[in-house]
Amino acid sequence: MKERLQKILARAGAGSRRGVEQYILDGRVSVDGRVVSDMGIKLDPVDHEICLDGKPVLSPEEKIYILLNKPVGYVTTLSDPQGRRIVSSLLVGIKQRVFPVGRLDLDTEGALLLTNDGDLAQRILHPSFEVTKTYEAKVLGCPLPESLERLASGIEMEGRRTSPASLRILRASSRFSVIEITIHEGRKRQVRKMFAAIGHRVIALKRTAYGKLKLGNLPSGKFRILNKKDIEKIFAPK
Ligand code: URA
Repeated sequence: MKERLQKILARAGAGSRRGVEQYILDGRVSVDGRVVSDMGIKLDPVDHEICLDGKPVLSPEEKIYILLNKPVGYVTTLSDPQGRRIVSSLLVGIKQRVFPVGRLDLDTEGALLLTNDGDLAQRILHPSFEVTKTYEAKVLGCPLPESLERLASGIEMEGRRTSPASLRILRASSRFSVIEITIHEGRKRQVRKMFAAIGHRVIALKRTAYGKLKLGNLPSGKFRILNKKDIEKIFAPK
């Protein structure tokens, strides 16, 4: 919903209505990287990045979608009785209470979506929407084409067949290979178990995309706030 910039800023706790008007006049507010001095501007905060003094501003109730490059060694739960590092500690400056959409193992890195939008999380996780997840798996040795075909067409895993996957070899040497694998499901340690089933241990795993939303060159441990177009990419047809 479109609203006046000063209303969005005030609701986000950036200051009183008067105060934020002064911020705008002082050139401290930017929208999508451009300083805004027009007091009348109306916009939908979901579609734009609004910053005060270069820092993103959002209200605690505002729906927020975050893409984090999770480092290895962080758990995707919001608290950890064992005292391990938790992903939410990386979300510096985020006021909303967000939760991870699905999980990544402690020893997996890469794309992790976090949001306070339960409906969207459901849509991403529900198999009927078929949101794909793409991973780069570094495995010991180099699987034979027929082994990769087995994984692609589905294998029996804990009494249930995995759904079709796509795979391609990105790099290969005599000792290791890096294989891109795209799956539709999110079963526990699925990628590791799939490769184990063809006799190739995964030694490093990184999620690189949800649907067509790619992690890109986001540095490890850093995050970015997603806009509407990014969200559309998650559900974009294959
Ligand atoms: N598959 C795995 O084995 N681990 C993950 O963290 C994600 C997918």
